[in-house]
This record gives sequence, structure tokens and C-alpha cells, in this order.
Amino acid sequence: MAASILIAYATRYGSTQEVAEAVGARLREQGLTVEVRRAREVQSLDRFQAVVVGAPLYIGSLLREARKFLNRHRASLARMPVALFVLGPVHGGKELEDARTQLTGVLAKLPWLKPAATEVFVGKYYGTKDTIRVVARPRRSRGDDADHFHLTMLSYRYIL
Ligand SMILES: Cc1cc2nc3c(=O)[nH]c(=O)nc-3n(C[C@H](O)[C@H](O)[C@H](O)COP(=O)(O)O)c2cc1C
Repeated sequence: MAASILIAYATRYGSTQEVAEAVGARLREQGLTVEVRRAREVQSLDRFQAVVVGAPLYIGSLLREARKFLNRHRASLARMPVALFVLGPVHGGKELEDARTQLTGVLAKLPWLKPAATEVFVGKYYGTKDTIRVVARPRRSRGDDADHFHLTMLSYRYIL
């Protein structure tokens, strides 16, 4: 039987799911058997030979759903091939570098996890004005709403 790969993703607004599906489609093109599942719905890793974990960065950490997944399945994940991708920056350049630094910090807190591969994908803001204010300009007043709005127009792309 062909090796079966799980892509387990955590998401708040859906962009990590989109990337997980895209990664899954790419792996299937290569003849692999792939299941794409929401992290919180995965009960067991027993029937998988490898796992790809996908999670967005929120304030420098993996989304809680992903952290819970890693903790819950730690014993299995520690003895099988794991790849990890994170979403976050909506631009390349400095934001991308910052996200890579955040990913290094995340992995430093998970010394038992030795991913065979890691990647940072460009994220997407779905946020409301309030959400975007938190990310972009934490201390600005309401008068700056017009500045925040342009962020909602940013497109995102996948680095695949
Ligand atoms: C409140 C908030 C905090 C965020 N913090 C970070 C961060 O620390 N680093 C980063 O690279 N991206 C950060 N982002 C961007 C998200 O990771 C990005 O929007 C991602 O695509 C969201 O994934 P999701 O749609 O699967 O929830 C943040 C976004 C929000 C709304």
C-alpha cells in the first residue's frame, strides 16, 4: 500500500487551510496518498507514515490549535517524518525574514520536534479593521482607519 501522508492544519480565518489544500494537491500530483485534515479533528496518527503540519503565526506563536495538536500527538510525531509550514507575513522582504525568525523561536520551544523540512508561506489578512489595527498599528487612534484599510486590499501568494 502506498505511504499515506497527513496534512494537519490549524486556522483561524481559513488561509492556512487553503495552503494545506494546495500542498496536498501538489503531493497528490506526485502520486502520494494524502489526507488534509483540520488539526483539532485528528484523533490518531497511527495510519500515517508522515505528517505535514500547517499553522499560522499569531503574535509570534503558532495558533493554539496547532500547539495543542503538537502536544497531543507528540509521542507519534517524535518518531515519524514531520514537515512544518507556517503562514504569516503578507509581504516578502523584512516581514518574511521576521516570520522566519519567529519560526526559529517556535522550534526552539519544541526541542523534541525535528522537522525534516520547514517553510514560511505568505499569509493573508481577512481581518476586520479591529483585527488589522492590532497587527499593524497597535497604538494608533481611530482616526487612522483609512490607513488600516489598505491592508485589507493586499493580495497573498503562495510560495510553492
Ligand atoms: C492578531 C494577529 C496577529 C498576527 N501575528 C502574526 C505574527 O506574529 N507573525 C506573522 O508572521 N503573522 C502574523 N499574523 C498574520 C497571520 O498569520 C496571517 O494573517 C495568516 O494568513 C492567518 O492564517 P489563518 O487565515 O489560517 O488564520 C497575525 C494576524 C493577526 C490577525
